[in-house]
Amino acid sequence: MSTSSAAVRQPKRQDTWTGQTGFLLAAIGSAIGLGNIWRFPGVAYSNGGGAFLIPYLVALIFVGIPMLWLDYSLGHKFRGSPPWALRRIRAGGEFIGWFQVLVCFVILVYYAAVIAWSAQYTIYSVNQSWGDDALGFFTGDFLQVVGGDEFSWTPVAAVAIPLALVWVFVLLILGRGLSKGVEAANKIFLPLLVVLFVVMVVRALFLEGAVEGLNAFFTPQWDSLSDPHVWLAAFSQVFYSLSVGFGIMLTYASYLKPKTNLTGTALVAGFANSSFEILAGIGVFSALGFMAHGQGVAVGELEGLTGPILSFVTFPQIVSMMPGGSLFGVLFFASLVLAGITSLLSLLQVVSGGLQDKFGFTPVSAALAFGIPAAIVSLALFGTKSGLNNLDIVDNFINNIGVVSGAVAMALLAAAFSPRLKGLRAHLNLVSTVKVPRAWDGLVGLVVPAVLIFMLFSAIVGYVQEGYGGYAQSFVNIFGWGSVAFALLVAAILTLLPWRHYGVSAQTVTELLAEDDAPDAPGAAVPVESNPTELREGVEE
Ligand code: ALA
Repeated sequence: MSTSSAAVRQPKRQDTWTGQTGFLLAAIGSAIGLGNIWRFPGVAYSNGGGAFLIPYLVALIFVGIPMLWLDYSLGHKFRGSPPWALRRIRAGGEFIGWFQVLVCFVILVYYAAVIAWSAQYTIYSVNQSWGDDALGFFTGDFLQVVGGDEFSWTPVAAVAIPLALVWVFVLLILGRGLSKGVEAANKIFLPLLVVLFVVMVVRALFLEGAVEGLNAFFTPQWDSLSDPHVWLAAFSQVFYSLSVGFGIMLTYASYLKPKTNLTGTALVAGFANSSFEILAGIGVFSALGFMAHGQGVAVGELEGLTGPILSFVTFPQIVSMMPGGSLFGVLFFASLVLAGITSLLSLLQVVSGGLQDKFGFTPVSAALAFGIPAAIVSLALFGTKSGLNNLDIVDNFINNIGVVSGAVAMALLAAAFSPRLKGLRAHLNLVSTVKVPRAWDGLVGLVVPAVLIFMLFSAIVGYVQEGYGGYAQSFVNIFGWGSVAFALLVAAILTLLPWRHYGVSAQTVTELLAEDDAPDAPGAAVPVESNPTELREGVEE
């Protein structure tokens, strides 16, 4: 392989992580998000309590970590965002890569809105603005929600103003580039999050009734293990929470230096994320135990134990009941803001990286080119009176259909070209301390796609037969199916546009990429800019 073609084959990352710690913090920052704090406790509780930890750990070890290794290997070996990396496996892979990018785009436009709500509630916590009707305040005074069959363009100032500020803040960080922007922000926000959250959990543990909450959370309902839905819930939680199959970890790994211990880092990131998640369960259920104790009921009789209602209705009620509750509320909502921002930055980086790779954008021009339209869509759809309904529908469809189908397509693509999968395993083993066993090929190529296809099938059948959440079918069509159709359509358009990267002609790039289409193309063997011995010798531990 000639040097000049090698230079074009691997998009040069002008900006990389400054070291393994920066990458690790950003990877953990991406994984720890709203899903850990508001999703995990409720999912675990309603799917067998303590017994849920068994399917959860199985899902983490047999699906989450193998997929994380796949993401890391693709990004690191092919040094590019999903369209580029998956294009290197097979021409059609570029479309799957853009689909993942677009799924991230759809998620980030509403994710920002939840961060804005949390920022507003951090302030509301100071004087407990929700008074004695937390539900009425959240849906009425704050979000001014209209009916489930009504669309509204009317902005809600209390949401739109913090939402606009969230956008300005994250786009400024993104425009600074990977190391000076995303990495620097994670180095501040992740440690701060851990400190605030641990203080909150410790406070919760000392509340009266905390033990009842922990008993409710951890008491295993062993029967649940025979229910397939419990297993599906565990797989889906691990996917969402670890940010695997979104293109996020693939993108982050593409900015690693060639000499990096990939598998060990993935294990640390995966177990750090799960530890935080279990910590969140402990904190949330201690607080719920306090609430149940105060009301003289069992924890199981409480309502609103998951999702937005848990965070924005049940938690404010707990804050109001607690001595020194305002500080507890500030800690909880500030934690949501910090966890959300670090995950939002990773979603933004996927889109920015894709545009930089294919069209030669700079971080600043990418942040402006898609960040401004994203902010406008975000404000128009989620900063308005129908924002909560729109968000609920889009969130459900894009995760259950968009993320899952992008992940299954990526795993099948890698597995269908098994020399590539072996090449990826060889690459992981070349640079890493923990060696990937051969069984990985079977997990990624067979077990993961089978689980994901089953999840996808169940979700589609459910939506077709029952609609979603009691919303008018026209809304489900526009925001649910429409968000998936949008991602498919824009992905197709971006795939068809010519590559213009690094000043070489589109023709040259196309020809070079076409070389990879040969089943045993040499491009897949090792990273071109280093030889294997150098890589092995210089691996950072
Ligand atoms: N992994 C991120 C979360 O948990 C997306 O919210």
